[in-house]
Amino acid sequence: MKNDVNRQWLLNGRPEETNPVVIEDHFKYAESPRPEIGPGQFLVRSLYLSIDPAMQGWMRQLADYMPAMGMGDVMLGRAVGRVVESNNSDYPVGDLVYGVFGWQDYYVSNGVDRNGVPVNKPPKGAAPQSVLGALGTTGLTAYFGLFDIGRPVPGDTVLVSGAAGAVGSLVGQLAKLAGCRVIGTAGGPKKCDWVVKTLGFDACVDYKTENVLDRIAALAPAGVNVFFDNVGGAVMEAGLANLAMNARVALCGGIAGYTKIIPGPANYMQLVMKRARMEGFLVVDYMPRWPEGVVRMSQWIAEGKLKETVDIAEGFDMAPKALIGLFSGANMGKQIVKIGDDLQN
Ligand SMILES: NC(=O)c1ccc[n+]([C@@H]2O[C@H](COP(=O)([O-])OP(=O)(O)OC[C@H]3O[C@@H](n4cnc5c(N)ncnc54)[C@H](OP(=O)(O)O)[C@@H]3O)[C@@H](O)[C@H]2O)c1
Repeated sequence: MKNDVNRQWLLNGRPEETNPVVIEDHFKYAESPRPEIGPGQFLVRSLYLSIDPAMQGWMRQLADYMPAMGMGDVMLGRAVGRVVESNNSDYPVGDLVYGVFGWQDYYVSNGVDRNGVPVNKPPKGAAPQSVLGALGTTGLTAYFGLFDIGRPVPGDTVLVSGAAGAVGSLVGQLAKLAGCRVIGTAGGPKKCDWVVKTLGFDACVDYKTENVLDRIAALAPAGVNVFFDNVGGAVMEAGLANLAMNARVALCGGIAGYTKIIPGPANYMQLVMKRARMEGFLVVDYMPRWPEGVVRMSQWIAEGKLKETVDIAEGFDMAPKALIGLFSGANMGKQIVKIGDDLQN
């Protein structure tokens, strides 16, 4: 790529309410000149793009925590990059920075990202890809969702759906650190094997081939105390059917319902019978406490207690395919796309 070109993916169409599937035609490739910076501004060269299921909702303008995206706008998305030019002493050249910079090579900032949020600086020495995984919103979703909403105590049985995904793969490891027994659900034997043998979950149910309800009942005869749900749909119903008394359900996401319309859980009365609490949350609401989460996650990684789980697609052209792949389970761990070389390291 020539340095004077800013490659971009623009929004060219939206998933529809009746057919919410993301397709390649929803994106259009474009090039613009490398932007110039003015007084107080700095230029970020992005290295990796974060690929998130929620982008489907951003394209449909369903998320009130993200700015509206018009047709032809640069696709919204978080990215990590280096400051390569600067007229802003708070963000000198060479700094690693993180924020909503969009699917493009370059982003001009005066200190805030496209979401109006201060451009984030990762801890010194953090690897750029970690900043989109365990040390970014993915890791913080796992950390705050599990500990603040799920509130595990040692000895609890924790169920994590989407266990081989970005958030789920971290949640299960954190629950193990909290002294819990951890059961995951994931699609296929390869993922289940990875979740148990590499990440240290106690068990994993392959929701594509196994009877999830029966398998959870067998694995958790005394019931599930904490259910961290990334998926919704039939897997969620199986989880609700196996709750222990006074269980906590942390409602993180519902990817099974992002690409097709599915009814809500038919057995939600289980919450009543089990005097359980189900609570949704958004990681952005924890922004004032993000530094606390980053410190804790960094410590566990440094101590070798938490494995980072990053799945890297190579090349700017891969961004739409990588997003579409999330909905067929193509990723293991956090999906990111490498779009540039880090010349600083
Ligand atoms: N509340 C928040 O603040 C917050 C923040 C970040 C993410 N989230 C949500 O958390 C969930 C996980 O996000 P992530 O970034 O970690 O993504 P992820 O789990 O890495 O993303 C995709 C995975 O979802 C699974 N999947 C796709 N379609 C499915 C279906 N119909 N049924 C069951 N599983 C399906 C696939 O794994 P399999 O191969 O196992 O099917 C796929 O690998 C998403 O729902 C996301 O929207 C919420």
